[in-house]
Amino acid sequence: MKYVILENYETQGVDQKRRLIQSQSQQIAEEVSTSSYIRGETSQLVDSELIQLANLFNGRVIIVNSNFRIIRDTYGIDEDKYIISEEVLQSFLGKNSINYNKDYRFLEMTIPVRNEESSEVEGIMIISVPTTDVNDASEALGNTVLILQIILTVLICAVAFYMSHSLTKPFSKITRSLEAVGGVSEETISIPDYTETKLLAEAYNRMLQRMQTQEDSRQEFVSNVSHELKTPITSMKVLADSLLAQDNVPVELYKEFMGDIAEEIDRENKIISDLLSLVKMDRKSSDVNIQETNINQLIELILKRLRPIAAQRDIELVLESFKPIIAEVDETKLTLALSNLIENGIKYNNAGGWVHVSLNVDSKYFFVKVEDSGMGIPAEAQEHIFERFYRVDKSHSREIGGTGLGLAITRSAVLLHHGAIKVYSKEGEGTTFTVRIPLKYVE
Ligand SMILES: Nc1ncnc2c1ncn2[C@@H]1O[C@H](COP(=O)(O)OP(=O)(O)OP(=O)(O)O)[C@@H](O)[C@H]1O
Ligand SMILES: [Mg+2]
Repeated sequence: MKYVILENYETQGVDQKRRLIQSQSQQIAEEVSTSSYIRGETSQLVDSELIQLANLFNGRVIIVNSNFRIIRDTYGIDEDKYIISEEVLQSFLGKNSINYNKDYRFLEMTIPVRNEESSEVEGIMIISVPTTDVNDASEALGNTVLILQIILTVLICAVAFYMSHSLTKPFSKITRSLEAVGGVSEETISIPDYTETKLLAEAYNRMLQRMQTQEDSRQEFVSNVSHELKTPITSMKVLADSLLAQDNVPVELYKEFMGDIAEEIDRENKIISDLLSLVKMDRKSSDVNIQETNINQLIELILKRLRPIAAQRDIELVLESFKPIIAEVDETKLTLALSNLIENGIKYNNAGGWVHVSLNVDSKYFFVKVEDSGMGIPAEAQEHIFERFYRVDKSHSREIGGTGLGLAITRSAVLLHHGAIKVYSKEGEGTTFTVRIPLKYVE
C-alpha cells in the first residue's frame, strides 16, 4: 500500500509540473519564433521572458537553432556550443519529448519552435526543471506512512496476541479440566465460555457417562464371572469335604456324591466355554469364518440335536420352512445363536408344550422365528435378558441349568452378521424370538 500511495503521489506531482511547464513554455516558444530570435535577432522581451520562465521553475532554459547550436542558455554556460542528442533530433522532427529522471530528480522537456508561416521546425527549446519539491514531499509522505506502518504493525501484533490469548483461553481451561477429571469418574466438566466449548464439554460429559456405564457393566461382569465360576467349585468342595469327614462311607454315597461332583464339573465347563464363545464374538469380525451355508440344513441339524431333550420333557418341536435358503454366514456362530433360542424355548416351557421354528426369506434377508408355549418373560425383564448372566428367576434357572450367557452369545452372533433380534413375550402365555440376518455378509 505504501509503495502504491507514494508512486501515485509522485506521478501526479510530476505530471502537474509538466503540464504547467508545457502551457507556459508553449507561449514563449511562439514568441521566440515570431520575434526571429531564433534566427539571431536580439529581443529584450524574449530574453526577459526566458529568464522569467527559468526562474519560475527554478530551472534552466536553452534555445537551440537549426544548426544545433545553443544560442541562449539561461545559465549562460553552454552558449555557442553544439548539442546533438536523441531528444533534440526527435524534436526537429516535430515531437515534444519529456524525460523524467527520478534518480537525478529533474524533468527535462524539449519543445520544437516552429516557423509561424511555414510551420517548419527551426529551433528547439529545452527546459530542465528540478523536481526536488515533489520528491521531498513524497519522501516526507513516505516517512509519515512508515510511522503509520510501524504503529499499525505494533497495534495488529498487540491485538493478535490479545485475541489469540483470549480465544484459546477456554481451550486451555478444557485441557486443565480434562486433566483434573482424569480417568472414568462421575465428575463432569463445564466450560460455558463459547457455544463451541460448551458443546464440547457436554459431548465429553456424555462420553464420560457412557464410559462410566461401560465401566459399571465391566465390573458387574467380572464379579458375575467370579461368582458363577466359584459356585460349582464351592459345591464340589462341600461334597468332597463331607465324604472325607466320614469313615466307612458306603459305596452308594460315594457314587451319588461323585455323580454330583461330575455335574458341577460339567456346569463349570459350560460356563467357561460360553465365556470363551462370548469373548471370541466380542473380538470384532477378525475371526469370522463366512461361508455360503444352507440355512434349512443348519436348522434341521440343530433340531435333530435338541429333539431328545424336547422328547424328555414331552415338548413338540416343529419346523416350518417355506423356501430353500442359502446365505453367507459363520456356521458355528449362527448355530450357537439359534441353538440357544430353541433350547430356551424347550427349557422354559411347560411339560407337553410346543416350540415352533419357522424359516422365511425375502430378497435381502432371511428370518428365523422361534415361538414357544412356555412361561413367558415378564415385561420389565425383557430389556435385560440379553445382558450377560441375566436370568429372570435365578433359583429356577439354576435348577434348569442356565448360566445366563446364552442370549448374550445369541445377540453378539446376530450383530456380528449385521442382523437384528427381537423378543415378544407375555408372561404365562409364551415367547417369540425373531431373528433377521442379511443373505450377503457385509464386512
Ligand atoms: N423362551 C423363553 N421363555 C421364558 N424365559 C426365557 C426364554 N428365553 C430366555 N428366558 C429368560 O431369559 C434368561 C436368559 O436367557 P439365556 O439364554 O441368556 O440364559 P440361560 O438360558 O439361563 O442360560 P444359558 O443359555 O447360558 O444356558 C433365562 O434365564 C430366562 O429367565
Ligand atoms: Mg439359554
